Amino acid sequence: MSPKAPKTSLSPSADKAPHLPIFVILELRSTLLEWYSQSGRDLPWRNTRDPYAIWISEIMLQQTQVKTVIPYFERWMQQFPTVEALAAADLQTVLKAWEGLGYYARARNLHRAAHEIVTQHNSVFPQALDQVLALPGIGRTTAGGILSAAFNQPVAILDGNVKRVLARLIALNVSPNRALAALWQWSEAILAPAPSSETSQSDSRDFNQAFMDLGATICTPKNPSCLLCPWQRHCQAYNLGIQSVLPMSETRAPLPHKIIGVAVIWNDQNQILIDRRKPEGLLGGLWEFPGGKVEPGETIEICIEREIAEELGIEIEVGDRLTVVDHTYSHFRVTLNVHHCRHLSGDPQPIECDEIRWVKVNELDHYPFPKANIHIIEALKNLPSRTLP
Ligand code: ADE
Repeated sequence: MSPKAPKTSLSPSADKAPHLPIFVILELRSTLLEWYSQSGRDLPWRNTRDPYAIWISEIMLQQTQVKTVIPYFERWMQQFPTVEALAAADLQTVLKAWEGLGYYARARNLHRAAHEIVTQHNSVFPQALDQVLALPGIGRTTAGGILSAAFNQPVAILDGNVKRVLARLIALNVSPNRALAALWQWSEAILAPAPSSETSQSDSRDFNQAFMDLGATICTPKNPSCLLCPWQRHCQAYNLGIQSVLPMSETRAPLPHKIIGVAVIWNDQNQILIDRRKPEGLLGGLWEFPGGKVEPGETIEICIEREIAEELGIEIEVGDRLTVVDHTYSHFRVTLNVHHCRHLSGDPQPIECDEIRWVKVNELDHYPFPKANIHIIEALKNLPSRTLP
């Protein structure tokens, strides 16, 4: 018979700070570290103590899955091996290296932060938590990830995986985002028990990595592998049989959906007009095919003609449809209705963008584009050359 979990003070309530007996904390720590030594993942950023490399990995991992990040991380470290190399690169090159990872503010912040590290910290990544938090793009969990992995500092983390593990461990009765203060206290309490507890805090690096791996590989959103879990004995959700319904979800409003008319404008030299968005906003600094939102009552063709006159000050003729692309970004969904267009008159002006260029289809790959536009480029590359408008 498996031993029954001792009655601990693991609390099902959202607002209770943790009061774990030290023997429970010690058992949670030792069972997790033992499990990690057997089953932890071998990931490229775990084979280094270089805070620059670890910082890059943590930023990439903020909103992107490990298996997607690995090749980007490896290419990035070849292309920008040091903070000086990143600071010296121009923003367009950095955005191009980020292309496809999404959330481009992360790349812009990395570039700005690299400048700050070079100019204000003598090119040395800071070790003080307040200085790390002052860098653009670094919040509390990223700072904890970097400081624990690079310098073994006992700074807690609370990413999506850790939130889910904790929500189940304590059978949290609200969604994790409604109990952040309490969850941070739990993460801290398990990582670094009170100094008087005589526990070693020299395992902070492995502990935080193990915590994330537990969420990513065992305590998964669906069908968690509770029978393999080192924390099964203390997990309130498991003991109550409610692990599959936790964490409680947020009730979300549906994403706004924008219908966009997009122009692939050809000139007589078989070139296409592209524009670079202003630096602000979700897709700031990236290149795109010009266009805009369809207004109520407008056809796609009328919308494209109007947008191009407003944005670039030129007259075009809207022709056949090239493709339709549906794409979901973090905060909205777009449907791009893309048409071939012919430039009729006027000199294009960057009225609502930063820059415009005429380029050949085979030059499009040199420019960073948002994900939804990559499908348009593919459609253009697949056009039989005889049918070019
Ligand atoms: N997500 C955030 N940081 C991570 C790390 N160091 N390893 C795996 N997944 C992560």
